[in-house]
Order: sequence, then structure tokens, then C-alpha cells
Amino acid sequence: MTTHWTTRAETAADIPAVDAVVRAAFPTADEADLVAGLRRDPAWIDGLSVVATTTGGTVVGHALLTRCHIDDTPALCLAPCAVLPAQQGSGAGSAAIRAVLQAARAAGEAFVVVLGHPGYYPRFGFERASAHGIGLSIDVPDDALMALSLDPRRSLPAGTVRYAAPFGICRPTAPPPLPIPGLPFDLRPPTPGRDSGCMTPIRRRMPPDSASWRDEAP
Ligand SMILES: CC(C)(COP(=O)(O)OP(=O)(O)OC[C@H]1O[C@@H](n2cnc3c(N)ncnc32)[C@H](O)[C@@H]1OP(=O)(O)O)[C@@H](O)C(=O)NCCC(=O)NCCS
Repeated sequence: MTTHWTTRAETAADIPAVDAVVRAAFPTADEADLVAGLRRDPAWIDGLSVVATTTGGTVVGHALLTRCHIDDTPALCLAPCAVLPAQQGSGAGSAAIRAVLQAARAAGEAFVVVLGHPGYYPRFGFERASAHGIGLSIDVPDDALMALSLDPRRSLPAGTVRYAAPFGICRPTAPPPLPIPGLPFDLRPPTPGRDSGCMTPIRRRMPPDSASWRDEAP
């Protein structure tokens, strides 16, 4: 069934409804907590949190783009996408995703990555990221990481995706901090601007039979 959905950028008044949609769509509160964390993070970009509503204005779907990097090239991360369970499969998710991608394109953004179900995101133009030399610093199924260029004149850059700190994906390749002579422990902060704030790495991976994410102890 396909219904007509209205899409628009979220307003401050939508925040509780967006939270409710995300909580309802996922089995745990992790994704809702992620959205809340991203709202407080520099990765948040006003206008790139889009809701899908009924003609009566009820928020049923949500799609979010936040800042990430492919190596040092600015890009956007599509996550999470959520639709109220009762409305899933009726086009609300697609409507929100198409609208947020269009908003990003209009804002001059060029690249988007998504970690999700390989049967869903190609319909929006996403391609397997590894085919473009794009990878992650954690192990995920190769076809789950996808990337999209919003600008036909710009090819996707190769590199490693660096997520905003609220995603909790640290680079395992980061060198361990060196001890400071004379102190029993290291007091230096994390490397500024890269994985700062990411103190509790959480590996998130997709079970092979589901698009749901689950946390896995590092
Ligand atoms: C994933 C989600 C956002 C898609 O939104 P939606 O409104 O249900 O999907 P749409 O109606 O736009 O699209 C329906 C199509 O997507 C497919 N689809 C929906 N969810 C899918 C999934 N998890 N995996 C693969 N395909 C999926 C449907 O099979 C259908 O395919 P068809 O058009 O070929 O028949 C929504 O189902 C949802 O909130 N799911 C739970 C949370 C989740 O897994 N989010 C994604 C990870 S961030």
C-alpha cells in the first residue's frame, strides 16, 4: 500500500514525536538515544532531519543526515531512518529519505553514506561503498556499507568513514596514548577533532536476517 505522505524539515515542536517514532521503530532505545546525542553534537545540521507526516500532520516517519567524513572529506551519514510500525511498508520511509537527500543536495552537500540493509537503500541511488574504496574501521558485512554522490560531477572519494562521536565507533587503528613520565596514568585528552568524546566504543552490526541493529560489547 502506498499512501501520500508530506515531508518537511523537523521543527523544535516535532522533537517529541520524532523521539516517539524512533523508539517505536527499533527494539531498544539505542537509536532514540543516538538521535538525542546527535542533536547535541556538532555533527547536527539544521534542516537535515526530515519528517514524513500524514495529511493531518501526524509524524509517522523520520530520516536523519548528520556530518561524517570519508577520511578528511566532509560527507553525511544517513541514520537512523524510522517509521511507526503500523505505517511501515507504505512509503513513509522512502518519502522521508528522498526528501532528506534532496535537502542535502540543495544545501550543496555532495556525499552520503549509509550502513543498512542492502536490499533497501539502492533504490535511492546508494551503491556498495567498497566498490568506491570506502570502508569502515569496524567489521560489517561488505554490502551493508553503501555510499551515494549527490552531485553527478563529483565522484565519491575513497577512504575510511569517520562517524560523529555519538555513534560510538572509534578507530581501532588509533595509536594508544603514551604514558606521561612521572604520572601513574595518562592524562592527555583524545586526539582533538578525530575521535574525541568517543570513550565507549560500541560495535554495531547487522544480524544477517534483520535490518535491526544490535549492540555488541567491544
Ligand atoms: C526501514 C524503514 C525506515 C523503511 O521505511 P518504510 O516506510 O517501512 O519503507 P517504504 O514503504 O518506504 O519502502 C517499502 C519497501 O522497502 C522495503 N523494506 C522496508 N524495510 C526494509 C528493510 N528493513 N530491509 C529491506 N527492505 C526493506 C520493503 O520490502 C518494500 O520493498 P518494495 O517497495 O520492493 O515492496 C522502516 O521499515 C523502519 O522504520 N524499520 C524499522 C527500523 C529500521 O530498521 N530502520 C533502518 C535502519 S536505520
